[in-house]
Amino acid sequence: MDLERLNKRIAEVEAEVASSLPDVTTADALRTLDTAVLGKKGSLGSLLGNIRDYPGDQRGQVGQLVNKAKARIKATLDARLAELQSADIAAEQSQAESYDPTLPGIPKPMGSVHPVTAVQWDVERLFERLGFTVEAGPEMESEHNNFEALNIPATHPARDMQDTFFLVNKMVLRTHTSPVQHRSMKKFGAPLRVIAPGRCFRYETLDASHENTFHQIEGLMIDENISLPNLIALSQMLLREVMQRDVKLRVRPGYFPFVEPGIEIDMNCEICGGSGCPTCKNSGWVEILPAGMVHPKVLAAGNIDTEKYTGFAFGLGLTRLAMMKYGIRDIRVLNSGDLRPIVSPMRLGGPIIAGEGLS
Ligand code: DAH
Repeated sequence: MDLERLNKRIAEVEAEVASSLPDVTTADALRTLDTAVLGKKGSLGSLLGNIRDYPGDQRGQVGQLVNKAKARIKATLDARLAELQSADIAAEQSQAESYDPTLPGIPKPMGSVHPVTAVQWDVERLFERLGFTVEAGPEMESEHNNFEALNIPATHPARDMQDTFFLVNKMVLRTHTSPVQHRSMKKFGAPLRVIAPGRCFRYETLDASHENTFHQIEGLMIDENISLPNLIALSQMLLREVMQRDVKLRVRPGYFPFVEPGIEIDMNCEICGGSGCPTCKNSGWVEILPAGMVHPKVLAAGNIDTEKYTGFAFGLGLTRLAMMKYGIRDIRVLNSGDLRPIVSPMRLGGPIIAGEGLS
């Protein structure tokens, strides 16, 4: 083969490669083509096999021509390989991104409700059914509303019953939800049915049963002919609603300046079942619902006609009741940011929106 024919043959091989490339769609097929063209016995590779047929002074030129053509074809094949590989990746990606509506959804972790909130909602639901409104008072209170209006004058020894956080602006952090009694009487007058859940604060040293921040739900019902049996019946309903079964109660006399008579309603300790444990101080009973008939001085401070109306009030220990319901032995975990779910929000059906704050 002379040089002219060799050049022609090389051009033919290159044209063949170019025309067959579009049909090569896999890396395997590309490898086969590579061998068929560039391999020793391939259409181009074999041209070097005949190099001894050329006169000695042409052999260098033949080698160069064939090797340059080899390099060009190799580059073309490599470019095609890169093309095929990127097409493969794109295909994989589009498969991964494609949306299959028949697949089950990805579960999203759902938050849970704080045990205190859960019990608060239970109580609110019951009282709404009974025609009570849900009110809220401020956590920062005047001494008048927190104490004086509740028949606890400045010199009264009962002030010592509640260790108080005094603020620099002469206000206090409310020590109980009872000031909302006074606010509600002044706002709505009688007859009146309200409950007021909220946070309270006492200057306490923390231990398993004492917190400086805890929750109560105040209750107040004022009408004609209200008496203690109404209060006791309602307490029974309240605890049954929260605990979802009948709860054993015990009623004792108790002293609070804003009620007369005052009572303490205790419930059977749910932690030990009544046999005695550290939570109930081995008594088998837990103070849960201090209450009483509203003192005439408190009614008068709220501009209620004491000739016509009587009322009962209670201060449910919401935090303590939540501990009973969920078997929580140490009050400190409630404010600790412990996020272990106890109560699913779905089971509770969501919150009841409290009335706008009383001012
Ligand atoms: N406010 C009282 C306290 O925190 C609890 C209380 C007792 C509230 C008797 C009442 C009540 O409404 O009638 O110690």
